[in-house]
Amino acid sequence: MENYFEFINSVKICAGQNALENIPFELDFLGCKKPLILSDMGVSKAGVLDIVLKILQNSNVNCNTIFKDIPADSDISVINKIASLYKAQNCDGLIACGGGSVIDTAKGVKMVLSQNSDDILALSGNEVIKKGKHIPFIVLPTTCGTGSECTSVAVIKNHETSVKMEFISSELLPDVAFVDVRLTQTLPPKLIASSAMDALCHCIEAYSGIQKNYISDAYAQTAIRLIVKNLPVVLTKPNDTARTELALASTLAGIAFSNSMVGIVHAIGHACGGDVNIPHGNAMAILLPECMKYNLENSRNEYGELLLYLAGPDIYASTPKEKRAETAIQFVEEFEKQLHNVCGLPLLLSDYNVTEEDLPKIAKKAINDGAIIVNKKPADEEEIIKILQECL
Ligand SMILES: [Fe+2]
Repeated sequence: MENYFEFINSVKICAGQNALENIPFELDFLGCKKPLILSDMGVSKAGVLDIVLKILQNSNVNCNTIFKDIPADSDISVINKIASLYKAQNCDGLIACGGGSVIDTAKGVKMVLSQNSDDILALSGNEVIKKGKHIPFIVLPTTCGTGSECTSVAVIKNHETSVKMEFISSELLPDVAFVDVRLTQTLPPKLIASSAMDALCHCIEAYSGIQKNYISDAYAQTAIRLIVKNLPVVLTKPNDTARTELALASTLAGIAFSNSMVGIVHAIGHACGGDVNIPHGNAMAILLPECMKYNLENSRNEYGELLLYLAGPDIYASTPKEKRAETAIQFVEEFEKQLHNVCGLPLLLSDYNVTEEDLPKIAKKAINDGAIIVNKKPADEEEIIKILQECL
């Protein structure tokens, strides 16, 4: 634990039964009468957006301004375009209804608007962002993994350079996040599994990184417990409680890593997303066990402690202290195999046609990713290539 830490989570969380019915109240509280609603075609086709629109139509909120063409990887030019639309339509707030890309796009738009800018690129680099104009902003996450609804981070792709840019500022935090079973119930099982593995990674990396602190530890522990308990249920015999708890776990994991940061799994995963186009959650699932093995000697205590939340009190108590870290890694490997058997979660880089020749360029990008800095064990290109070879 560092001698000094900061922790922030200013997002109001509305979670559970009928949570969505509170959207008009929250908009009213924030002084928003004409939000710009951001979503994507997938969410729209799944009928999730209609549920939200119906609730808004029954209130006095003007919900006619909708932008549904957000790409799978949030993009700089799309953000600038949406910010212009917001101004042209005289909107007074943002609603993001979607997964990580929609939410991160909305965060980018919020930042452009609050900073009185018209170009997100001009705002890259931490030190530029100051407390700006308040833009009412509520988030309805439709996946259960990114936790983006409660993080100070936005990952935005520059398609011209193929680089995923990371923006970090408390200015990116929404005002309210909703966790409601209706937002995630149409998610296909494979996507549920990969996004929940992203959330599990957030917990494990936040708990074992150099910026860990007592408050985010508590969030990470609870989130791990909820993921392990509910993910298999949601994939095999789903019920509303399990779905809600899994979605909540993702939110809690987001709060944890937003304050303690992630590490080598995300550094390599971002590089895989930028270069060989492996979806983020899948990259996390593929890389997590091998990265834990790489980190083992530097994170032995933390991994050992996490066995309690991964495997439960009986296994934790019956495992000798010196074996707990290895047992935690084995648990993660077994858990992933179980997910692979249930829903076909990809567990190898070769499932995405990645070959030995791709590895040096992925490693080069990974060592330049910000997440590598807070990993407890330093890593160079050669070491990252070795990790990647184990995942082929
Ligand atoms: Fe992630």
